[in-house]
Amino acid sequence: MNLLNQRRNRRSFLYLSGLAGLGGLSAVSAAQFCRSSQAQGLTSSAAESRSLRQQAAAKGILYGAAARQINLATDPTLAASYGRECSLLVPEWELKWDAVHPEPQRYDFAKSDWLLSFSQSHSMQFRGHTLVWNQALPVWVGETVTQANAEQVLSDHIATVVGRYAGKMHSWDVVNEAVEPQEGRSDGLRQTPWLALLGVDYIELAFRLAAAADPNALLVYNDDSMSYDMPFNDDKRVAVLKLLERLKAKNVPIHALGLESHLGFENSPDQNFNPQKLRQFLADVASLGLKIMVTELDVTDRELPFELARRDQKVADIYRDYLAAILDEPAVVSIVTWGLSDRVTWLSDYAARLDGAPVRSLPLDIDCQQKPAWTAMVEQFDQAPAR
Ligand code: XIL
Repeated sequence: MNLLNQRRNRRSFLYLSGLAGLGGLSAVSAAQFCRSSQAQGLTSSAAESRSLRQQAAAKGILYGAAARQINLATDPTLAASYGRECSLLVPEWELKWDAVHPEPQRYDFAKSDWLLSFSQSHSMQFRGHTLVWNQALPVWVGETVTQANAEQVLSDHIATVVGRYAGKMHSWDVVNEAVEPQEGRSDGLRQTPWLALLGVDYIELAFRLAAAADPNALLVYNDDSMSYDMPFNDDKRVAVLKLLERLKAKNVPIHALGLESHLGFENSPDQNFNPQKLRQFLADVASLGLKIMVTELDVTDRELPFELARRDQKVADIYRDYLAAILDEPAVVSIVTWGLSDRVTWLSDYAARLDGAPVRSLPLDIDCQQKPAWTAMVEQFDQAPAR
């Protein structure tokens, strides 16, 4: 994908919650496919007894993945894979506003409670995503929230949602994707409904509200496009660092930066990956006293050749090179992939291949078997310095 396409894509794509249904449907049919193929015998990689969670834990790192409740609830093979591989679980959709707060006076915790209980019964930690974002907002927000009531609405939301899981959350993505230097503001902030309603202090307000509702969770600022070496990535890193410095200088209760890490979108990822520059950025973030979490790691194979062995190897190379750079920094405490198995990934919609072939972006394949990307991750956990 060239930069122009990437920019156009980034601007025009809304992470529509309607895609939730697609994820669920394709998971069910993939599950049926998977069960019949498994009945014919396990592949050799199933004999691999290590897991991502164990290999990461040996170095003091948490490995986990995002999932939707419907997929874990309807697909036992997928659910078992999460139980085996993950020590951290993140609801992919269930804690976004449109899921958890569908009407002004009504919250719906059925699905997020289910996921919490799944995580507890598999000895996983639980991570919240996300409290303040310009997307996944229900229609009622646009219709009823004004400058006069915005602070009250945000306070109620954060107190209710964070309060419900207080003491049970490893971490919360408090503010998501609030920086976008390409929009041209001198402070680099994205023009969002919350900025328009509450002004620039909405970010620190959200962190203070979250800390009041759960003093134990790690509070995270999460954003994308910080991993590569294109000019817009430079601008993004500079603007995010400035935001983090501003927040720390004001004693805002922020504990970590979340690096989304949706990889492979940049034009020629090899040429545009600069590990030294990335490590310097991570060191700058760490020097503010912040932890770093990789929050949404995956690799698009959209531009890669169809042939499976070459495609899987290239995806694995991208995981390997990225983790080699990232895990070098001791402030990095967790790695979360945005999904675990190719049978359910948002990239099937967001970055579908032009040849129509199923995408192969995650550590496990559509049969929930380990791929070269899984092996690359295990190797990088093995080589990482202990935390
Ligand atoms: C995506 C989900 O994966 C999709 O299923 C959903 O429809 C839209 O949101 N950055 C984020 C995540 O912070 O919340 C997004 O998740 C992916 C990009």
